[in-house]
Amino acid sequence: MCFRYLPVTSGLHNWGKLMRSDNPNTIYLKDYQPPAFFIEQIDLSFDLFDSHTLVESRLQLRRNPQREAEPLVLDGEQLELLSLQLDDRPLAAEEYRVGATSLTIDQVPDSFELKCRVRILPQQNTALEGLYQSGSMFCTQCEAEGFRRITYFLDRPDVMSRFTTSITAKRSAYPVLLSNGNLVAEELLEDGRHRVRWEDPFPKPCYLFALVAGDLRDIRDSYTTASGREVDLRIYVEPENIDKCEHAMRSLKNAMRWDEQHYGREYDLDIYMIVAVNDFNMGAMENKGLNVFNSKYVLARPDTATDQDFQGIEGVIAHEYFHNWTGNRITCRDWFQLSLKEGLTVFRDQEFSADMGSRGVKRIEDVRLLRAHQFAEDAGPMAHPVRPDSYIEINNFYTVTVYEKGAEVVRMQAHLLGPEGYRKATDLYFERHDGQAVTTDDFVKCMEDASGRHLEQFRHWYRYAGTPVLEVDESYDAASQRYSLTISQHCPDTPGQRNKPPFHIPVAIGLLDAQGNDLPLQLAGEVAPVGTQRVLELRDQIETFHFVGIPERPVPSLLRGGSAPVKLEMALSDPVLMFRMAHDSDGFNRWDAAQLLAQRLILKMVEQRAAGAQMEVPAGFIDAFRQTLVSADEDQALLAQVLSLPAEGYLGDQMEEVDVEGVHAARERLRQQLAESLHDELVALVEANREQGEYRIEPADIGRRSLRNLALHYLMAAGSEQALQLCLAQYQAGHNMTDVLAALALLAASDAPQRTEALADFESRWRDDPLVMDKWFAVQAMAPRADTLETVQGLMSHPVFSMRNPNKVRGLIGTFCGANPIQFHRADGAGYRFLADRVLELDPLNPQVAARLLRLMSCWRRYDGARQALMKGQFERVLQQPGLSRDLFEIAEKSLEAGQ
Ligand code: TRP
Ligand code: ZN
Repeated sequence: MCFRYLPVTSGLHNWGKLMRSDNPNTIYLKDYQPPAFFIEQIDLSFDLFDSHTLVESRLQLRRNPQREAEPLVLDGEQLELLSLQLDDRPLAAEEYRVGATSLTIDQVPDSFELKCRVRILPQQNTALEGLYQSGSMFCTQCEAEGFRRITYFLDRPDVMSRFTTSITAKRSAYPVLLSNGNLVAEELLEDGRHRVRWEDPFPKPCYLFALVAGDLRDIRDSYTTASGREVDLRIYVEPENIDKCEHAMRSLKNAMRWDEQHYGREYDLDIYMIVAVNDFNMGAMENKGLNVFNSKYVLARPDTATDQDFQGIEGVIAHEYFHNWTGNRITCRDWFQLSLKEGLTVFRDQEFSADMGSRGVKRIEDVRLLRAHQFAEDAGPMAHPVRPDSYIEINNFYTVTVYEKGAEVVRMQAHLLGPEGYRKATDLYFERHDGQAVTTDDFVKCMEDASGRHLEQFRHWYRYAGTPVLEVDESYDAASQRYSLTISQHCPDTPGQRNKPPFHIPVAIGLLDAQGNDLPLQLAGEVAPVGTQRVLELRDQIETFHFVGIPERPVPSLLRGGSAPVKLEMALSDPVLMFRMAHDSDGFNRWDAAQLLAQRLILKMVEQRAAGAQMEVPAGFIDAFRQTLVSADEDQALLAQVLSLPAEGYLGDQMEEVDVEGVHAARERLRQQLAESLHDELVALVEANREQGEYRIEPADIGRRSLRNLALHYLMAAGSEQALQLCLAQYQAGHNMTDVLAALALLAASDAPQRTEALADFESRWRDDPLVMDKWFAVQAMAPRADTLETVQGLMSHPVFSMRNPNKVRGLIGTFCGANPIQFHRADGAGYRFLADRVLELDPLNPQVAARLLRLMSCWRRYDGARQALMKGQFERVLQQPGLSRDLFEIAEKSLEAGQ
């Protein structure tokens, strides 16, 4: 038996007939009302058993004086109510009503205690929301609305309560029992059970509640805060992983120090705990004092984790730590304000990672992600503002828009205010709103009040979806030494939003002379130049900026550092782009120029191919590439970025209609041409940068590995014996997982006879390490081979694979559907059918992960008619499934509806 989400209206509602506008389950921001009751205190007791868990809660409730004479309506789902008492008086059956998702008591005093006992079934919880079992441990995930699966409560972030938690369980199986705050009592009970009690002194919304029980080991460390308080730091993992926690601990201490230095924020409890679990829907969760992490973002050893994994851990550990102030101490008024905590916290973790590693490369990686995924989301049927106006299922709004675009929106404000202004503004934010549940508007108000700047127009970034497009025209008048830029902006229509007003856009700019030096920048009307790089602030639909004292026609370098999340359209010639690729003083824009150049070339080759002509790679491009490749004095990490070709998915996004085969063929052809023309240089690069000595996660080492592995990636396209030998040698050397996996992925994508052997070798070596096996699944799912779908289908019956483990689902199915365009978009539609099959299989188990998978097909209208029909058919099939989750329904319905 299995609890499933049932729609409020009826068990077998035909969701498919509903349109967005008349869906009774849509929640709107405009309907926000403060809570009718506050819950000052909650005392929870958990009794964990092998078949079920008993939860007793004692709530101290107080009516909100602004909302009189209203009944008490608590949220609750999948709870079996055992007893209910109001101020110690058991309630009779007619005094309350239990619905599928609520508990209503009509008559309550203004201030009272409610005691409630429920039975829940964590062992059967495959949705991984609320209390569930992962392996042999219990853990919780309450954000966004999971607490209502633990007990009846006002499950909304603007209800903040003080929590105490007692946990009772069998001592032998669950020696470690954790919850938020401080441990205040421990006792041994008679029957082999034991009980602990935790108290969290800070009022918090229930989405930050956490409980963990298991047979765990921990590594401990301590941190002394700037004001001299000692904090106990602990990372809890399953026994076999105890040797993989050091990097996470180091990252945590770095994050604590960074937040003191950059935001003046100290940690506030005496203990900070992190627990790694294998089954987790997302990356990690910032529960107060007790973060629960997907083990992928904790566990690392040089032989099991790649450079990217190490950096991911550093970033996510910091992200969750930073939430203690931006999210926990100051939380969200409602879930429409999600970006208040997520956008700000992502911006904070991005800057932290930039300071820990290579700043320039970090920025490129972040913008690459933004352009590849957020721009696509903004251009598709699921487009929504950073602060959405409505949702059906809030879990569907943990998106790249809320997170990554939200971070860009904070970054722009930081940029507009300057370092000191921004620090003053965040100080004010912490001072003004500590302990409150607030809105993105409250945040912007602090930016305004601390700086005296008006940001009313800037708020459009929170209100309107869509990626603004800047069109730039330039002119130069040698006689008056005047250079003019005319910039116009428009933002495409998105579902429910048309004809948007102009945005307030900061455009960082430099002008380069023929040697690549930045020219002094003086605008007409100014008495002297103001530096060599400055920020133009766009406000009107069209604006012209006149630079004076410009002695020669300059090369413009716009949106330096990716100063705004916009698309830039400007007629720049290939030679100008090549010049910028080689000489722009802004590293980010050197990368950007290289990307644009490669994109242009590949798209031209796609056209040639479509016209039945030969695809041609101009010698000039190869030369520019060679020059960059051999410029030995370069930062290798930046070089690797500059020399990486744009991804197939991103290239497809730039076309009127995606040409799946064309993009793949053209990009591969270019890769092969580069490999053949630069074979010796690439071989030399690989050989000169072999791994020697100990593995280190220093920026220079990471840069060396990424450049060498990029060279190897090109070389394998040449198909030479030498390339294959280099690749095999790197695999066999087994120096570290970064290099092993890079080699394995290339072998897995190839037709080399050693392919099978290498995959088998890796499997036998790592069969018992789930995180490493995720990589083994992923490299096979990524291979652009004709038999990959069949391979993926076969791997679903591998003993290590499980549909119940989100990392496995993402590693195998998510990778195939999201990172292998040429095979997922097979013309016969088998990829689409496979995705819909998996999504329907997964929905009853885990709707959140199912909905995330289905999104991979939401941009179906961008493809040719035949593919559109095939994808549309699968969405319709999904919608016809009875008893669909809200999560999946929303994605399927909105994907189909938009644009009709
Ligand atoms: N708040 C978490 C973060 O950004 C995100 C998260 C973790 C989450 N688990 C979740 C969101 C489950 C929705 C559902 O760090
Ligand atoms: Zn977060």
